[in-house]
Amino acid sequence: MEMRTLGKNGPRVSAMGLGCMRMSSFAGPKTSTDEEGIATIQAALDSGINFLNTGDFYGMGHNELLVGKAIKGRRDQALISVKFGALRSPSGQMLGIDVRPNAVKNFAAYSLQRLGVDVIDIYQPARIDPNVPIEETVGAIADLIKEGKVRYLGLSEAGVENIRRAHKVHPVTALEIEYSLGTRFIEDAILPTVRELGIGLVAYGVVGQGLLTGSVTNDIPANDFRRQFPKFDQENLPKNLEKVSLLERMAHDKNCTTTQLAIAWVMSRGEDIVPLVGMSRPERVAENLRACDVTLTKEDLDDLDRTFALGAITGDRYPAQFKHLAAE
Ligand SMILES: NC(=O)c1ccc[n+]([C@@H]2O[C@H](COP(=O)([O-])OP(=O)(O)OC[C@H]3O[C@@H](n4cnc5c(N)ncnc54)[C@H](OP(=O)(O)O)[C@@H]3O)[C@@H](O)[C@H]2O)c1
Repeated sequence: MEMRTLGKNGPRVSAMGLGCMRMSSFAGPKTSTDEEGIATIQAALDSGINFLNTGDFYGMGHNELLVGKAIKGRRDQALISVKFGALRSPSGQMLGIDVRPNAVKNFAAYSLQRLGVDVIDIYQPARIDPNVPIEETVGAIADLIKEGKVRYLGLSEAGVENIRRAHKVHPVTALEIEYSLGTRFIEDAILPTVRELGIGLVAYGVVGQGLLTGSVTNDIPANDFRRQFPKFDQENLPKNLEKVSLLERMAHDKNCTTTQLAIAWVMSRGEDIVPLVGMSRPERVAENLRACDVTLTKEDLDDLDRTFALGAITGDRYPAQFKHLAAE
């Protein structure tokens, strides 16, 4: 398995990480049984993927319990990245976020128990609360690092100013943010900033929530939760699928799948970038890992660059009611 180093002094992680979110209910219903979720995590570990991404609010603790079960007896093979701070009701409603220092420590205490581990490898606020100075949130994580309960500090969906402010308090190891052929807004300011500071980039949404896999059609059911996301709405989806058909054609020419090409493109953007791929069935792991074997020539990269220039995939990243949660 190809390995990459996260950030200047961060851990070695597999060149592809496993996003576990969809194994529990969060942005949409859970898409697999618990058995399939655990089997997917174990298939990933068996294949040399050591980088697992979860959040305490994915299924309100369910996802961490699942990860905990899957890594039992093989903790040393897993590097676990946990997001915290999003508040949910017992029925799953989003209630806001709490990233005040005492809340940070409280969330961490529960995550350690649910995961069944002594230390969380990368710990990060899911979002930054403009009402809580980032220095306070990050300061609490720095305390947890001193106590040996957390190994590395991460951020999620943070903009340039917050990245710089956080990094002054404690070195940030990784920024988790959306990045794919269809979502390239970070290239302008955020990516240069993390590169300047020696922070690794963990890309999520690499296959555009399925859009870039070639498996989505215009007949996506009205009750599919993705319909709430502008890229999948009735206006944007047909246009976006036309672009995806170009990706399908390129993948065909390169003798790989559309998904593998989308993942390979993110991998090609730099050794400091590690794509997370959301998977919830074990057979996906081997298929998607073959993206590591896709070699992109300069001509391929130029083609992809032109076809998927910023704005080629239309529709905001998040639904209007959650827009404030997206970094710009
Ligand atoms: N920091 C943040 O704000 C944030 C936000 C969102 C997500 N994340 C993290 O990033 C991870 C990935 O995000 P995501 O799941 O939203 O986006 P994604 O990785 O772009 O898309 C995942 C979707 O693609 C499907 N898929 C994967 N491989 C496929 C293949 N070979 N053929 C067909 N379909 C395939 C998956 O299906 P199956 O599930 O059926 O395998 C799943 O529905 C999450 O699990 C989470 O850990 C972080």
